[in-house]
Amino acid sequence: MKRVTSRSELSAVLAEGSGDGPRGFVPTMGALHAGHRELISRASIECGRVVVSAFVNPTQFDDATDLASYPREPEADAKLAQAAGCDVFWTPAVEDLYPDGLEADVRVTDDLTSVLCGAEEGRGPDHFAGVTTVVSRLFDAVRPDIAYFGEKDAQQLAVIRRMTTDQQLPIEIRGIPTVRDPDGLALSSRNLRLDARSREQALAIPRALREASEMAMSGERSTDSLTRHVRHLLIENGIEPEYVEARDPDDLAPVAEMNGRPVLLAVAATVGEVRLIDNVILEGRS
Ligand code: PAJ
Repeated sequence: MKRVTSRSELSAVLAEGSGDGPRGFVPTMGALHAGHRELISRASIECGRVVVSAFVNPTQFDDATDLASYPREPEADAKLAQAAGCDVFWTPAVEDLYPDGLEADVRVTDDLTSVLCGAEEGRGPDHFAGVTTVVSRLFDAVRPDIAYFGEKDAQQLAVIRRMTTDQQLPIEIRGIPTVRDPDGLALSSRNLRLDARSREQALAIPRALREASEMAMSGERSTDSLTRHVRHLLIENGIEPEYVEARDPDDLAPVAEMNGRPVLLAVAATVGEVRLIDNVILEGRS
């Protein structure tokens, strides 16, 4: 595995020869865990060469404390990436991606970016402008054939798919199912900040999503009943959710009735000091 920092080093390494098969890319913010590992392993199975970037992107944080306290572990990250099959590990500096200052200038439609996590009471619409800006710059530098994103961040996946179509980028976006701890909690770099009690409490989130999924499979058609059930279980466990919503996984439009198509049931909640998100795709009966 090669480790590179500047954009010119990256270009030089990429120009050395591309190996056989497509170039795969896994963008991350570092603090790699088994969720990231799954994306990298999938890329290494499906691609000739795998590039992983680790960059804590300042323009997608709405809170300076969150940005400052985001875990940074480049050495451990490089080891995990290499073991998972990464060929080029890129840790850009801020200047490599933002030579003209921290301006977010790539945006997709508000329909996708001002709902759920993009709502004012969540992270605000600028969050996704930060994500699309950095991902478009990373894509420009790496020029992948296939890029891998986790379904855990379902809205991010929908936004990136839309950006790729809007910009007519020749990149296939592949979504990878959420990796969970054995107790059900979706892996996240932020889980490190949960104390034992909050972690136990947080387990109500995957439990509630699983119950809703079972209800949908048993024939519950009203998404209102499903979201109310989830909300109720969370509140019963002392969690006040930021949102619990049923939406179309592609255009994120609200869905009122299960209609035979997959429906995204998404939750955000702060447990202890930590904001967590999770979701499930409901496969109702047609
Ligand atoms: P980060 O939170 O580091 O996540 C990098 C990728 O790993 C994302 O595609 C995310 O959805 C995926 N991922 C995280 N936890 C996962 C889990 N438990 N199971 C499966 N996949 C998981 O998402 C970002 O970074 C940034 O917004 C980024 C796209 C890199 C832009 O800065």
